[in-house]
Amino acid sequence: MNKPRHKGPDMRKIVILTGAGISAESGLGTFRDEGGLWSQHRIEDVATPEGFARDPELVHRFYSARRQQAAEAQPNAAHLALAQLEQRWAGEVVIVTQNVDGLHEAAGAHNVLHMHGTLGGALCAACAHQWQAPMEMTLETTCPACGAQQARPDVVWFGEIPYHMEEIISHLEEADLFASIGTSGQVYPAASFVQEAAANGADTVELNLEPSEISRAFGVRHFGPATEIVPKWVEGLLTGGNA
Ligand code: APR
Repeated sequence: MNKPRHKGPDMRKIVILTGAGISAESGLGTFRDEGGLWSQHRIEDVATPEGFARDPELVHRFYSARRQQAAEAQPNAAHLALAQLEQRWAGEVVIVTQNVDGLHEAAGAHNVLHMHGTLGGALCAACAHQWQAPMEMTLETTCPACGAQQARPDVVWFGEIPYHMEEIISHLEEADLFASIGTSGQVYPAASFVQEAAANGADTVELNLEPSEISRAFGVRHFGPATEIVPKWVEGLLTGGNA
């Protein structure tokens, strides 16, 4: 049911979904582009609980390498533009990211929900304690709470439930504007967020290098590198309120 919208254009609630494409120009690989991570590793080997059970050392090496890379990466103009929007927009801005890097926070954004977890997090498979991951996580990494040596990256693997879903759904219900940036729209539930937001009356915009699998679901689309189209889009919102 569409809620009556009494807010002025600059008071609107903006919910932004980001994917690997927003971090591509910071030097972090995407998954499904040419040469992407899923062309170098099989998902079932490094991004499933079964793969971790089968060969935990391989999985630790995969995530430790990505953790190191992400730690050395800098936020780019797109991350910085979203942090500016959060700071300068009168209404609420929520970033829901599929990314496990910390570049939104490094750019100064605060209201960030990591639905697929973070490379910076460690999770104990024995007691579910969460702590700051060591740069190099190994089979010997010990849980500070229970002492077990069953640490795993605190990232959400295929077949596992994404984090913050209840909170994300309620943000989508309240969104006046939903933007999707740098995602191929191939992984659910993130790929369904545009329908959820549109069904609740939100305007929708896709910003991506090229049309994603779900491009047709968006009212407005901007194509190009994130470092070019995202700052322009943010400027347009801050100066005129257009999506
Ligand atoms: N600027 C904007 N968009 C870009 C750029 C760029 N410089 N480079 C690539 N893209 C776009 C690609 O066109 C593609 O649509 O980013 C998207 C990246 O898609 P994927 O590699 O599929 O990454 P993502 O959509 O984030 O994957 C979702 O899948 O494997 C899981 O958990 C993993 O969070 C990930 C999820």
